[in-house]
Amino acid sequence: MSFRAAARIARTAAIKPVMAPRAMTTLARAVATKPAAVNFVATRGVKTINFGGTNEVVHERSDWPQEKLLDYFKNDTLAMIGYGSQGYGQGLNLRDNGLNVIVGVRKDGASWKAAIEDGWVPGENLFDVNEAISKGTIIMNLLSDAAQSETWESIKPQLTEGKTLYFAHGFSPVFKELTKVEPPKNIDVILVAPKGSGRTVRSLFKEGRGINSSYAVWNDVTGKAEEKAIALAVAVGSGYVYQTTFEREVNSDLYGERGCLMGGIHGMFLAQYEVLRENGHTPSEAFNETVEEATQSLYPLIGKYGMDYMYDACSTTARRGALDWYPVFKDALKPVFEDLYQSVKTGKETQRSLDFNSQADYRDKLEKELQTIRDMEIWRVGKEVRKLRPENN
Ligand SMILES: NC(=O)c1ccc[n+]([C@@H]2O[C@H](COP(=O)([O-])OP(=O)(O)OC[C@H]3O[C@@H](n4cnc5c(N)ncnc54)[C@H](OP(=O)(O)O)[C@@H]3O)[C@@H](O)[C@H]2O)c1
Repeated sequence: MSFRAAARIARTAAIKPVMAPRAMTTLARAVATKPAAVNFVATRGVKTINFGGTNEVVHERSDWPQEKLLDYFKNDTLAMIGYGSQGYGQGLNLRDNGLNVIVGVRKDGASWKAAIEDGWVPGENLFDVNEAISKGTIIMNLLSDAAQSETWESIKPQLTEGKTLYFAHGFSPVFKELTKVEPPKNIDVILVAPKGSGRTVRSLFKEGRGINSSYAVWNDVTGKAEEKAIALAVAVGSGYVYQTTFEREVNSDLYGERGCLMGGIHGMFLAQYEVLRENGHTPSEAFNETVEEATQSLYPLIGKYGMDYMYDACSTTARRGALDWYPVFKDALKPVFEDLYQSVKTGKETQRSLDFNSQADYRDKLEKELQTIRDMEIWRVGKEVRKLRPENN
């Protein structure tokens, strides 16, 4: 794309306030709402929204201001089991929200050290897994999915009547034939699945914004499970939450991350880059036309204003070509997505994840695969291109 086109995008983006009224108020509220822990503004709550012709109920965090959360959970101890990406994000947000939260991880592991660095104090609010579970009333199982399966036999007997079991993914109970995680029937079992990494759960909260999350109920013995899930979703830093089931959550999540969110987009970048290189284009040109322009110029426009806006902001030449080629890509890729969905639904992806991530040396093996990515020309070029961004000089 030409500089002229890029300049036009920048100009248009700067002057065109084309957000749907709802999106505008969401953004306005997010900006207006300072640190989430301090100022919840109770202006909106549960709503039925027409999402492209389908009505869905959503809950917004303004229904659960901080004082209400503190009151709702005043008799609870939230035991955050695991301190990976989600444990970090959700745990610190809960702590900043003033709730009684403790962390449970294996002593002297990487997470134990990370938790101490983040200010959790051994014996005060940092314990080993079993001690934290024994102290908790709401057990938030944020171990890795493979570890949830490995540790289930020791955790299950501690999930006694009156406790609540919380997951951030439907993986363990939905694929119980593979994971062996079968939650007790006499306690509430709920799910809150943030739609982003734990780092983003934390950074959005600190900016006074919130991650979108889904919530679901597996067991409701108290009649309060749904309400508890929604309240917890807000407490861990969600901006709005939509209802799902454990099954729908795990299927869509495993599918999405293998597809457009990570695997699919990575494969598409590689294919486009390789063809450019095979046709004599320089690394700079191939990278700029594949990744840099996408992530720095065009994808943020999709994120902020939508796909039609991005088309509208581009040159007539770019627009015509993209309009002609997107159906070709869609038709070529749809069978791959269909295969992928089946692979998820049948449990094949779950089995693969359990097999790989249960190995004692899974971190080393993962590191080797990540190194292969780091060593690819495209991503080595990316490193140099990023250095040239004026803000990085
Ligand atoms: N990451 C995301 O973007 C994301 C988004 C939404 C939902 N989720 C879900 O959130 C949950 C947690 O995911 P995560 O990415 O935060 O965690 P993770 O990084 O996959 O898991 C890390 C935690 O598991 C512990 N662990 C691993 N093996 C263990 C074992 N054998 N015994 C005891 N502890 C063990 C680690 O402790 P050590 O340091 O001691 O090894 C660490 O605290 C999962 O259900 C995941 O699907 C994740």
